[in-house]
Amino acid sequence: MTGVVVLTGAGVSAESGLATFRAADGLWEKHRIEDVATPEGFARDAGLVHSFYNARRAALKKARPNRAHLALAEFEREHRGDFLLVTQNIDDLHERAGSGNVAHMHGELLKMRCGKCEKVFPIDCGIDAREKCPGCDVAGYLRPDVVWFGEMPYHLPRIERAIANCALFVSAGTSGNVYPAAGFVGAAKSAGAKCVELNLERSANGGWFDEGRYGLASEVVPEFFAARAGTGA
Ligand code: OAD
Repeated sequence: MTGVVVLTGAGVSAESGLATFRAADGLWEKHRIEDVATPEGFARDAGLVHSFYNARRAALKKARPNRAHLALAEFEREHRGDFLLVTQNIDDLHERAGSGNVAHMHGELLKMRCGKCEKVFPIDCGIDAREKCPGCDVAGYLRPDVVWFGEMPYHLPRIERAIANCALFVSAGTSGNVYPAAGFVGAAKSAGAKCVELNLERSANGGWFDEGRYGLASEVVPEFFAARAGTGA
């Protein structure tokens, strides 16, 4: 069995200049989750929610993939076996680095969805709460195609299948606070996979991992994957 599943979080994009969530100066220190990342918050004040995600879309325009993104794309190209990159990140830096098999379990910042006709469209600029949907022409229903608290993450069956068949599970740049992603390591262990954590510090679920390497993602991720490139594991 040569399957590899990598789970990434905000720490992998931090050195590209994108803010993480739970750092002292992180996004959740400056914004209330209830206001900007729940369906109830969107129903109360869609304008506030759009301004939060519009600002993140603007920040993403200035960001570039870093060595961690590039190392994961290179490993995927050279790996002889199944590979799935599961990301909690809504940026497109993994794709821009060249990753192919990416599951955005929390959605994507560069997509918007109409709550009326449910169609999904690409978006690379700001959304106005009163804008009309390009599909059904009804105003006021466009939302970022991201998963908010209280909503079902995307791609779970595909992710669960990959984890059940993996020999190596690596978690990189995530604090291990948000489920179901934080529980993937438990499922990987039950499947008999080796579980490795690569992060700045030991995460909330760090005790589950067989091995931890701690430091900047731009250093520990390339180091870890370079040693395994082309080995089939
Ligand atoms: P967090 O902000 O919770 O955690 C980021 C992790 O990355 C922390 O453990 C940091 O120590 C680590 N870190 C920071 N800089 C790093 C660097 N340069 N190199 C390596 N590690 C670094 O972000 P996530 O775990 O991704 O969900 O958060 C999970 C989910 O919570 C997000 O997808 C988002 C958020 O609420 C939703 O919005 C639904």
